[in-house]
Amino acid sequence: MSTTLYGGASHRRVTILDLRAAKVRGEKWPMLTSYEQITASIFDEAQIPVLLVGDSAGNNFLGEENTIPVTVDDLIPLTRAVVRGSARAMVVADLPFGSYEASPEQALTTATRFFKEAGAMAVKLEGAHIATVEKLTSSGIPVMAHLGLTPQSLHQLGGYRVQGRTDGDAMLEAALALEKAGAFALVLELVPAELAARITAALSIPTIGIGAGAQCDAQVLVWTDMAGFTANPPKLAKAYRNLRQELLAATQEFASEVRTGAFPTEAQSFH
Ligand code: KIV
Repeated sequence: MSTTLYGGASHRRVTILDLRAAKVRGEKWPMLTSYEQITASIFDEAQIPVLLVGDSAGNNFLGEENTIPVTVDDLIPLTRAVVRGSARAMVVADLPFGSYEASPEQALTTATRFFKEAGAMAVKLEGAHIATVEKLTSSGIPVMAHLGLTPQSLHQLGGYRVQGRTDGDAMLEAALALEKAGAFALVLELVPAELAARITAALSIPTIGIGAGAQCDAQVLVWTDMAGFTANPPKLAKAYRNLRQELLAATQEFASEVRTGAFPTEAQSFH
């Protein structure tokens, strides 16, 4: 292990032990979603230590309204592409809605598919499924937990709303139980900053915030929000560029050059 996540000469992938050591050092780190090979390789080059093949692929890649319709068969090829496109990042696969809640055995069967068929290095699951986390971690599968706004429970929660405003103690208890069960990290989504700070201080595993304030150990964004592809990004996101505009301009220029005959030129021709 080196003194920062990317500090040493090592070219191996980031592990759960590196992330635990980063928390001890107080080193904050970024996480992004990725759904295919090109972004995976760019984010890997940018030294993003953890790439999440999120079920947010549903509404950011597969054209669905939300994450609920996403299936294991949807995410396995995307996970494989992200693993192949990266060399250093730990690749975490989201367990889709309906693929793990029935029993720890169902979760193990699903997670095993992500490991064997896609090369995932960890899985993420939403909610306080303590027995499932115990089953997976004791079977050799690292688990990233996820509390707060859990989008697969959208209809049960009544919409995309901040969670834990009135029952923060229950979320803290759930977080401690997930850590005890063996989770290696915890995503906190749409949680009041003060509560996220309390949970972060109480845990020895890293918290990863999204709309959970600045005190979390790590921060995650959906990559299309981060890069400015989303038309109406949520308040929790920040767009660091407007790549939608850039891609639109490039596409319009290409189309226009084809129409006028300006492309191809001699440079792109063969004789
Ligand atoms: O699916 C996803 O992208 C996620 C992140 C927002 C944490 O669960």
